[in-house]
Amino acid sequence: MHKGDLAMGVAFQLEPSVDRFVKAPPRKMLIGGKWVDAVSGKTFATVNPADGSELARVAEGDAEDVDRAAKAARKAFDDGPWPHMAPTERQRILLKVADLIETHGKELAQLETLDNGKALFETENVDIPQAAGTFRYYAGWVNKITGETSPTDPGYFNFTLREPVGVCGQIIPWNFPLLMAAWKLGPALACGNTVVLKPAEQTPLTALRLGELLLEAGVPEGVVNIVPGFGETAGAAIVRHRMIDKVAFTGSTEVGKLIQREASDTLKRVSLELGGKSPNIVFADADIAAAVQGALMGVFFNQGEVCCAGTRLFVEQKIHDEFAAALATAAGTMKQGPGLEPGVQVGPLVSQEQLDRVTGYLAIGKKEGAKAILGGERNTAPGLEKGYFVKPTVFTGVNNDMRIAQEEIFGPVVSVLPFKDEHDAVFEGNRTLYGLAAGVWTKDVSKAHRVARAIRAGTVWVNCYNVFDVVSPFGGYKQSGYGRELSHYALDLYTNVKSVWLKI
Ligand code: NAI
Ligand code: MG
Repeated sequence: MHKGDLAMGVAFQLEPSVDRFVKAPPRKMLIGGKWVDAVSGKTFATVNPADGSELARVAEGDAEDVDRAAKAARKAFDDGPWPHMAPTERQRILLKVADLIETHGKELAQLETLDNGKALFETENVDIPQAAGTFRYYAGWVNKITGETSPTDPGYFNFTLREPVGVCGQIIPWNFPLLMAAWKLGPALACGNTVVLKPAEQTPLTALRLGELLLEAGVPEGVVNIVPGFGETAGAAIVRHRMIDKVAFTGSTEVGKLIQREASDTLKRVSLELGGKSPNIVFADADIAAAVQGALMGVFFNQGEVCCAGTRLFVEQKIHDEFAAALATAAGTMKQGPGLEPGVQVGPLVSQEQLDRVTGYLAIGKKEGAKAILGGERNTAPGLEKGYFVKPTVFTGVNNDMRIAQEEIFGPVVSVLPFKDEHDAVFEGNRTLYGLAAGVWTKDVSKAHRVARAIRAGTVWVNCYNVFDVVSPFGGYKQSGYGRELSHYALDLYTNVKSVWLKI
């Protein structure tokens, strides 16, 4: 164990495994149960977003590595034992994975915070426990995935089997690296599939550590292959590969469209969880203090790097000004700094690229005539200069046609927009390409139900926001994608239905 000198000179006691990850030679990729270098020998750097320094080097997967991984996954699927194992045995292994994530929770949380930037409070209390919970939940499903008998003519017996799809390519983003790995792997493995997983190039470390834990838990070789690398190379190779039966993707709508197009060559099954520009609608009759708090966490949680963030905050005209002011006051007290520093609520953005994208939108918003009543700029306070920090920003004077109201910013930036009445709120709330989530704040139960039904989005939160539970499905309408993750609905993404006929 060593004392890490992380940004701002904070001495922080790192867990041994974290130390091993960040001080060691380049991390290898996991193929066929072995840790190997890239065929090309290339590596890439992952940086600490709190200060821009190089955190670790990682093997850079490309088409050849994906090919090896796909072959290993194919072999593990076709020859077993994973898809053919007694369900209770597969269940036991997945339960062990959940336990190991919890046992190593502290180190995984530190590793995630170092690689992604987000607050340690969050990785410890949200990302890591929810990742463990996801594996545990899907372990529970392993021996409950059943078919049906069908009421056919009496001369026949017909029944259905739910079989695994085969080899699944899973491409995940950087905003919740370990949690997204769990959302993808949990149901895929429970159903008996094998996997080629590509973590985001910005945040490969926790997925690689998870790979070690999967082996330790007894996941057989080749069942999960982890190929870190870039989207245009490793990611695209997964989408094209002929031995891969399905691709599951979480990320930008732009890349989601590309994947759908590319997947048509092999007719892979595709599921997509994409961007959002979610309306969070506050009626004047709401519990205002609760709504301010909900709006705050709805947009600044995880630095706003959340696909379902409530970035279009619609507030009923008569309380608009006072609500916007209260939100700005509350947001102004949030502590920003390196994620490992105690008490920090808002960390840095994940990368220089994301910093440029978000500050670009701040400039666009001002040019469009919006007014930043809080923030509106990069945070370069002493100690933060080298990190990718953007101040929590509240824009007023926004209308729903502006780019900052229509395009996903993916940073700590909220646009407050006034609305006249319920019809106006629903109409403007739905006026977006996206349909991932929405919030409604009111004490009127009937109004809450009406609006929840009228909004075209995969999730609607009433008098709350950003609530997640593995038992409840998550996914998009419109250009936010399709397919539902979490809950039993995710099992549909990872199974095929076979109909078997017997003549009696
Ligand atoms: P991205 O969509 O490019 O990256 C997400 C994942 O897709 C990464 O693993 C990446 O390597 C992979 N990828 C990229 N291009 C690919 C390709 N051609 N074929 C296969 N895989 C590919 O997202 P990026 O560039 O990191 O962020 C851009 C914007 O996307 C953000 O500002 C945000 O608006 C949105 N985004 C949405 C997320 C969500 O949770 N829905 C997560 C991350 C980003
Ligand atoms: Mg990209």
